[in-house]
Amino acid sequence: MQLLKALLSQSLAYAMVLGLGAVFPLSISAWQAVAIQACGAALFSRGFRQPVWWLLIHLLFMPAVLLGLSWQVPAWLYLLVLLLLTLLFWGTVKGDVPLFLSSSAVSEALIEIVRREGAQSFIDIGAGLATVVVPLAKARPDTAIIGLERAPLTWLLAAWRCRKLTNVSIGRSSFWEQDLRQFDVVFAFLSPLVMAQIGEKIQQEMLPGSLFVSSSFPIPNGVPEAIIELKDRRRTRLYCYRIDRS
Ligand SMILES: C[S@@+](CC[C@H](N)C(=O)[O-])C[C@H]1O[C@@H](n2cnc3c(N)ncnc32)[C@H](O)[C@@H]1O
Repeated sequence: MQLLKALLSQSLAYAMVLGLGAVFPLSISAWQAVAIQACGAALFSRGFRQPVWWLLIHLLFMPAVLLGLSWQVPAWLYLLVLLLLTLLFWGTVKGDVPLFLSSSAVSEALIEIVRREGAQSFIDIGAGLATVVVPLAKARPDTAIIGLERAPLTWLLAAWRCRKLTNVSIGRSSFWEQDLRQFDVVFAFLSPLVMAQIGEKIQQEMLPGSLFVSSSFPIPNGVPEAIIELKDRRRTRLYCYRIDRS
């Protein structure tokens, strides 16, 4: 569905530029036409309610095509870039959360949370490049840590980074299929789009007294036990939810 919306956004913006060119035959450069097309595609994408990260993709797509054409990039390079992006971002075209990484301030805060909780088990339900998992595993060698990552290349890189950490296992499955019952602390840095569903999942599965920490995105209508505001560049907020004992 997202792919269809993306294709439509690009095509409509392309048609819009052709139409404008026919009605107002101004002499503009190819780069100016591409800039108008890119902005149009981004606006159509918003109109189709695509997730916000698609804006960047739409803004960059046509300029990248024009750049490739003017540099006469060999055809196989397009295929290679497409392959690498697919393996890195995998489910993003279907609406999954893309890869962006937590700061070191987030890892440090999580190390402190895990220490304070005396957590024996921890899971990052979208581990990315193991940015959180690696420092945590080194700081807390007695905590059993799992990182789940669905995108193949990202998973491979995370598994490679963790290969010598005996308390870490990196799984290549979706967090939707993972039972969260066995974890003292569950961490997520995902997207506002999935937080309502995640809220239901943690209430059904996590044990009373355990802690769910969401970076940047709160659970709609959830009441956090604490909100930790970090002093990193994004001013990241960690929303900490204690699972009810009732
Ligand atoms: C925003 S990144 C966060 C990476 C890492 N946790 C961090 O804090 O740096 C989200 C990651 O979740 C992964 N992801 C998205 N949907 C997933 C799913 N259903 N199951 C497992 N991983 C998923 C994405 O591939 C991406 O690498």
